[in-house]
Amino acid sequence: MYIVLEGIDGAGKSTQIKYLKEWLENNGLKVETIVEPTDLEVGRLIRKLLTRSDATSDTMQKTLGLLFAADRLVLMDKIEKLESEGTVVISDRSFYSSLVYQEPQEWIREINKFAKIPDLVLLLDLDVKKSVERCDGTDEFENEKFLTGVKENYLSLSKENDNFKIIDANNGQNKVSSDIKKAVAPLFDICVDCIR
Ligand code: TYD
Repeated sequence: MYIVLEGIDGAGKSTQIKYLKEWLENNGLKVETIVEPTDLEVGRLIRKLLTRSDATSDTMQKTLGLLFAADRLVLMDKIEKLESEGTVVISDRSFYSSLVYQEPQEWIREINKFAKIPDLVLLLDLDVKKSVERCDGTDEFENEKFLTGVKENYLSLSKENDNFKIIDANNGQNKVSSDIKKAVAPLFDICVDCIR
């Protein structure tokens, strides 16, 4: 099973991944987490480029699109291997991030055609104003105008893809966590009514 958390910057993905992992493990499952961009060579280059003032320019966005796709490809074998061993893979972001942060969409789809489709995408939907407040502004993407477009792109994707579940990330951490568990429970035949 390949479960992905998506959302605009500051939506709380990493905290929620930690809670979800713990809860699945308490339910007897083996769980591994992965993060995009990775901490490997290409991922490190991406993080450096994200701080450049021209990161949202057309050329740099295309360069980043290619780098994100290359960085992601390295993870695909790892995901398949873990899944074949019965391990649940929870990922912080996926090719859907490229579809909403980079463009043009058709080209992004093409260069990501070897990316695995997640079984479940939990879209942590946060108000853009809250997102900007929570971010430190290091990355060029962390501004209201850009993130408003990204949020809209996410919401359109969620309408086109059955594997998406929207989670209201404006709520407190505990409520977000229980909403996530309720969305995940049916995948593993865990009792939904037992979740607080
Ligand atoms: P993020 O998960 O926000 O990392 P951090 O915890 O360091 O803030 O990811 C870094 C940024 O990269 C974020 O602004 C989203 C962006 N991104 C893309 O633009 N395209 C992609 O394909 C991915 C995976 C991330």
